[in-house]
Amino acid sequence: PAYTVAILGATGAVGKETLEILEERNFPLSGLRLFASKRSAGEVLSCQDKEWKVEELTSASSFAGVDIALISATDDISREYGRRLGSSGVVVIDDSGVFRMEPDVPLVVPEVNAGALASMPRGIVAIPNCTTTPLVMALKPLQDAVGVKRVVVTTFQSVSGTGAAAMDELMTQTKDLLAFRDAKVEAYPYQIAFNLLPHIGSFNEGGDCSEEVKIARETRKILGAPSLRLTATTVRVPVLRCHSEAVNVELERPLKANEARAALAGMPGVIVYDDPAKKLYPMPLDATGKDEVYVGRIREDESVPNGLNLWVVSDNLRKGAALNAVQIAECLIAAQ
Ligand code: A2P
Repeated sequence: PAYTVAILGATGAVGKETLEILEERNFPLSGLRLFASKRSAGEVLSCQDKEWKVEELTSASSFAGVDIALISATDDISREYGRRLGSSGVVVIDDSGVFRMEPDVPLVVPEVNAGALASMPRGIVAIPNCTTTPLVMALKPLQDAVGVKRVVVTTFQSVSGTGAAAMDELMTQTKDLLAFRDAKVEAYPYQIAFNLLPHIGSFNEGGDCSEEVKIARETRKILGAPSLRLTATTVRVPVLRCHSEAVNVELERPLKANEARAALAGMPGVIVYDDPAKKLYPMPLDATGKDEVYVGRIREDESVPNGLNLWVVSDNLRKGAALNAVQIAECLIAAQ
């Protein structure tokens, strides 16, 4: 069998990556509907040796015949079309923060909790934030081995997490500054070229960023660990692709660095890339365009009982977004 897939947000950074992934994995497509704003209507994108025309997404758009909708546009679009499509029998795989914490919406990273896909009462499955996904991929084998008690994570997030316009802004600011011109600031509150911003999303009353809150809540939900203690600091860095994370873990029981390395190496979708003597550690440039989550700098932390440090790098547009969504579609198809 083959399926008709709709991509809402097809012209964005994640949408374009989704087209590449559908092609690379030879996803069984019988049709493809590409939706974006009026700005992009009529643009032609290719996938699996065919050309597909971008349609303007409007409340009058018809989704007749669509089996699966992948949404990565804006929260408003997820809210409006996610609900509508999910209740009309389309399988919705949503990349926004709108549905992730709703108890009747599974939040899924297939290697970690594919079982949660068994119950989709609203026809919607959410994919996690692009920093949560690599984090749970790294924590899951440690949780299974000895239990995880507390996590302190600091992220170094690329501008593609904000979207295509922010990637252009980093390039343009860099060129302008090197030419002694002023940098135009639009995507972020401050210049991102030659800088970094300890601020992702909006601040709450306690001073946490929404991104920091998301990581904690989503990680607990995916790992099925409601009382896991986790604190995050999220930082935007002038990198185009890949999010990196410095992760400090307090485990329930002792685990040597070598045992942690072995547990991580056994996790599907994770590559241990860790040989400091040879200067081998994951970097955004290595992980760009890759499907796997890279883990390095694995070492014991003696400042707490059963402490462990990790450095995690993953392509936020692939495993952090488009790939995870397509893998979920593949799991749902396999389960039919
Ligand atoms: P467009 O390219 O026409 O603006 P990114 O995260 O890279 O910024 O991409 C966001 C995606 O969501 C793009 O495909 C964008 O289309 C789409 N999008 C944004 N706003 C709307 C809207 N109001 N209606 C339909 N698509 C939208």
